[in-house]
Amino acid sequence: MNFKLLVVDDEKNIRDGLAASLRMDKYDVETAADGNEGWKRFEKGDIDLVITDLKMPGLSGEELLKRIGMESPGVPVIVLTGHGTVENAVEAMRNGAYDFLTKPLNLDRLSLLVKRALQNRELAIRHKRLEEELERSRQFKTMIGTSAPMMKVFDTISRVAPTKASVLITGESGVGKELVADAVHEMSPRKNKALIKVHCAALASSLLESELFGHEKGAFTGASARKRGRFELANEGTLFLDEIGEIDQNIQIKLLRVLQERKFERVGGEETLEVDVRLVAATNKNLKEEIEKGTFREDLYYRLNVVNIEVPPLRERKDDIPLFIASFMKEFADENGKTIEHIDERCRAALYSYGWPGNVRELRNCIESAVVMCKGNIITLNDLPPTLRNNSDEGWIKIHMGTSLAESEKIIIMDTLSAQKGNKSKTAEILNIGRKTLHRKLAEFNIADSDETEEA
Ligand SMILES: Nc1ncnc2c1ncn2[C@@H]1O[C@H](COP(=O)(O)OP(=O)(O)OP(=O)(O)O)[C@@H](O)[C@H]1O
Ligand SMILES: [Mg+2]
Repeated sequence: MNFKLLVVDDEKNIRDGLAASLRMDKYDVETAADGNEGWKRFEKGDIDLVITDLKMPGLSGEELLKRIGMESPGVPVIVLTGHGTVENAVEAMRNGAYDFLTKPLNLDRLSLLVKRALQNRELAIRHKRLEEELERSRQFKTMIGTSAPMMKVFDTISRVAPTKASVLITGESGVGKELVADAVHEMSPRKNKALIKVHCAALASSLLESELFGHEKGAFTGASARKRGRFELANEGTLFLDEIGEIDQNIQIKLLRVLQERKFERVGGEETLEVDVRLVAATNKNLKEEIEKGTFREDLYYRLNVVNIEVPPLRERKDDIPLFIASFMKEFADENGKTIEHIDERCRAALYSYGWPGNVRELRNCIESAVVMCKGNIITLNDLPPTLRNNSDEGWIKIHMGTSLAESEKIIIMDTLSAQKGNKSKTAEILNIGRKTLHRKLAEFNIADSDETEEA
């Protein structure tokens, strides 16, 4: 990143000296001879860091600091203060200055300060970009994802949603099956009618039957009044049957009939009811295996599975991880009234290289706990649960069958970086690539490339 710095000081010698020294560090430097001129330049935009004297004619450094803080709170301001006026500097820090330097200036210290401030700024900028990308990536109100496998899922959703076809959503636990069901309903012409959800595993078989189809008064002990079932409630809308793999044979037969004829009777009732319901079901079981075992009816399977949406596990769409992190961080920071600026690089690497057996749900919980644990406004490795902190798996890198070559390369780099605790020299050495190549790759992966954790 090419940074633009603004130096504001009324003393020409200091101004020029600072500018020359910072230019040697390869920054773009502009100067201003007083506060007013400095503010005019700043207002034009694209300044990444400001170094300003405090005592100046016209607009003072304090005032400039305040204005910058209001206009662009993310831009670090380093203040310069004369000998014996440290109180002013402390006051400036209170008003949001990044740090201060006393005159006569130690240029090495300045160089270090600027470097550190800009590293943070770069991370913050990347984070902001991710948030913007996130906004754009929200295909369906709540679902995040821009990776190729998710684009395929979104595509299927948008094609099947307008139809009445039954949808079977499959995938491991925590991949987002319920969100897919929500999206199918939301994007369908039924969106203003009911979306009724039934968690099939949560109810005993007899209860499930009356829950789905309703019952007549006196149908069984305790049935003191007629009750309408979920099928009736979902009329003209969508019925979502979660954990469909758990229902027993008796109910499977009844479901099959509703799917074939759109007709059923309440438990203990004679009257045949007709409904217009769009059925969406989900399971993390392999129903084909259940059919082999004889626990799931094949005919029902084909009725449910008119369109299958397989939601891929998180480890097969790692490109979405940075977006998930940004989104969950914002959500939980807001919820907990915290300001979290970003996640440091080692932590990001650990989050990236982990296998996420619990998928998006596990990632979401992990970010929530990290936000809660985080003491400052940067999440570090220490804020992660132990399973993630020690995710080195004794010198092995596991890559799932079906992972693309590009994705595999990323996993190898991130795992190595994580095992080397963020040390890039060692990582480059182990992988036998140049540091420049490593830096370039990290930038491509959207992993902030700073030297902060170097040789840590
Ligand atoms: N693409 C996504 N965007 C945002 N949040 C997601 C996404 N996928 C999953 N989540 C979040 O992850 C959590 C788990 O999602 P969900 O309950 O839909 O998973 P599931 O596949 O139904 O899991 P299970 O099989 O255990 O029921 C939820 O908090 C959900 O909001
Ligand atoms: Mg679910």
